[in-house]
Amino acid sequence: MCGYSAENFDAKNNRNNCSHQKQKAEMTDIFEKIRKNRGPLGMHAKDAHGYFTFPKLEGEISNKMFFRGKEKLVWSLNNYLGLANHPEVRKADADAAAQFGLALPMGARMMSGNSNQHEQLEAELSSFMGKQDTILLNYGYQGMVSSIDCLVDRHDVIVYDSEAHACIIDGLRLHMGKRFVYPHNDIDNLVKQLERATRLADQTNGGILVITEGVFGMSGDQGKLKEIVELKKRFNFRLYVDDAHGFGTMGKTGAGTAEHQGCQDGVDIYFGTFAKSMALIGGFISSEEQVIEYMRYNMRSQIFAKALPMPLVIGALKRLELLRTRPELKDNLWKITRALQDGLKKAGFEIGKTDSPVTPVYLNGTIPEATNLIVDLRENYDIFCSMVVYPVVPKGVIMLRLIPTAVHTIEDVEYTIKAFKDIQVNLKAGKYNADKIVTSLS
Ligand SMILES: Cc1ncc(COP(=O)(O)O)c(C=O)c1O
Repeated sequence: MCGYSAENFDAKNNRNNCSHQKQKAEMTDIFEKIRKNRGPLGMHAKDAHGYFTFPKLEGEISNKMFFRGKEKLVWSLNNYLGLANHPEVRKADADAAAQFGLALPMGARMMSGNSNQHEQLEAELSSFMGKQDTILLNYGYQGMVSSIDCLVDRHDVIVYDSEAHACIIDGLRLHMGKRFVYPHNDIDNLVKQLERATRLADQTNGGILVITEGVFGMSGDQGKLKEIVELKKRFNFRLYVDDAHGFGTMGKTGAGTAEHQGCQDGVDIYFGTFAKSMALIGGFISSEEQVIEYMRYNMRSQIFAKALPMPLVIGALKRLELLRTRPELKDNLWKITRALQDGLKKAGFEIGKTDSPVTPVYLNGTIPEATNLIVDLRENYDIFCSMVVYPVVPKGVIMLRLIPTAVHTIEDVEYTIKAFKDIQVNLKAGKYNADKIVTSLS
């Protein structure tokens, strides 16, 4: 329902637009320009920093953590399977750090930073994903950007979903050829874009890359992977899926959204991050052997940057083992997810089209109302969740985003739904109007 777009959230282009509107062109000092336009979120930094933005969650990573010295029920961490603080994970991390330190390996994989453990992790991911080969990424975001840059050249055409994550948008910015966007999950429109792309690629002798997310991280709905794969019967393209939120959470074995939809073989290139279900940092891409080999030798973010440190690789091996062998973690995640989503719907809340653990709650209100509501939730109900407002969602919409995890309890869910019912009543009664600050923040 709410158009989430990383392209809306673009301080740089906003600045450029402003300067184009100027009558008389004149030189500006870069710092002066920045001082005048802090960006769509940066403009709130003075009031928001430390509370709404850059909050500090302290203590053990779990369902309850400390915020400003007081315990809160936390719904904003992508610790889906609860692995962040799993005792076996903590031990593996600590043992690896003690044995290797954080420096090893030094350098990029290609030059001096390869190891048996890196290769073992790639092999285990390939077998888990049912793909021929895998390349590790030292960060998910930059890996996605760089992989798009690596896969296509100026003759190729990219077709992508309008709600694609910022890392996909940034990858597109590096693309020298054409790109066509289709409205979020609109398969009829995707067909039109594929017709346009095919006409163009015929002229340039290029190929077509379709990019979508598996689970869309803001709205929680799934990309229509099965329908997109079906389109391969009519069009010649390769499908690249960013499944940051689907890896570990979706599918019978946790191998992601395509496994859930029964179309894994139709996904040509699969991206997963370690930053969510795996509660780590880094990521990976799985695909055909020759494509991965091409990436190993051509993907700039991996050739020209230091490899993942050894403790992260050994920590990832441990997490992957638990993800594969402890189905109860995913079962618990889904038990909490269902209780939360069913409970919210039963209580009359609008949660959009989510069919994943990501749980958005859409309310109507202004930005001041949203901030008062969040303060009320945090200070009076001790609930910490993330808030998303314009320009990420349309004006007048407040989106509260809840991330259930395997370490939440049914009591947490019941308490939260009760609190949400209260804030909904308060919001409708005008209690969060700009002039009525719920709690003053010191
Ligand atoms: C859909 C999607 N892709 C990619 C990323 C980037 O992953 P990482 O945090 O590993 O850099 C994110 C992280 O928020 C994401 O939500």
